[in-house]
Amino acid sequence: MSTSGYLFQDSPAADSSGGAVMLDALAGTYDPISRQRIRHVGVRADARCLVIAVGASSIAATLAEMAHKGEVTATDLDLTPCRRHPRVKLLRHNIVTGPLPPGPFHIIHVRLLLGHLPPDEREATLDRLVDALAPEGLLVVEEFEPTWQTSVLSAPDLDEADRLFGAYHQAFQAALAGSGNDPRWGRRAHHALRSRGLSVDTEGITRTWAGGSPACLLPHATAGVIRDRLIATGMPGPDIDAFRRLLLDPDLIVKSNLALSHIGRRAG
Ligand SMILES: C[S@@+](CC[C@H](N)C(=O)[O-])C[C@H]1O[C@@H](n2cnc3c(N)ncnc32)[C@H](O)[C@@H]1O
Repeated sequence: MSTSGYLFQDSPAADSSGGAVMLDALAGTYDPISRQRIRHVGVRADARCLVIAVGASSIAATLAEMAHKGEVTATDLDLTPCRRHPRVKLLRHNIVTGPLPPGPFHIIHVRLLLGHLPPDEREATLDRLVDALAPEGLLVVEEFEPTWQTSVLSAPDLDEADRLFGAYHQAFQAALAGSGNDPRWGRRAHHALRSRGLSVDTEGITRTWAGGSPACLLPHATAGVIRDRLIATGMPGPDIDAFRRLLLDPDLIVKSNLALSHIGRRAG
């Protein structure tokens, strides 16, 4: 990727603790879903596993426990937020410009990265990931379907909560689009894997969360990190502040963004 296309890399606060809180909240929201999916398909004990752009996710540790006689490598541009695990090899790596660690792999996991890449880089990256799969190997591509505007299930003032989530949805999507992020990618990943000859299973999962929990801390941190971008794309500062206060209110109940988990299997 031209890393300049990664919205959070571009944002001035990306290096402050807001970025780390965001990655932690992302892991807290999405790791249980990814874990459920990976446990469902199963991973052999001697599997060779690769996690791309691991962030603060614990998925590499889960794979290390499942593949207890295998190998796990986890990569990211920035290893600072990555969780350490004695059986996970961490590799500082740019997925667009760096050669992949030597394959083949029985499972490759990539979550919430490919949508940030320009289309040509995304396509080339996918080609390389598919080529690195062992026969019957699994490529797990996970993304969010942006559904913030319909998140609110319960709130002290439902109409005001809907208004704030709607304003955040619009401004955040505009900021992402401004960095080249394609909002259709979450769905189109299924086609991208299928057209590369993989047989694909997709599951869309959303869960219920209260204010202050990881799924609410995620937009809370994100709105702090990209505050200037949200203002530039039309969300007034006082609305951002009210939105962030609401996200900490235990009387707010939301459903998380729809998590789309695509698992493509290479033929044997
Ligand atoms: C939105 S976060 C997702 C983190 C993790 N996959 C998760 O879902 O919790 C995107 C991650 O991609 C990493 N990243 C961005 N561009 C990258 C690149 N070109 N190569 C490798 N990692 C990259 C960032 O450092 C960040 O950790």
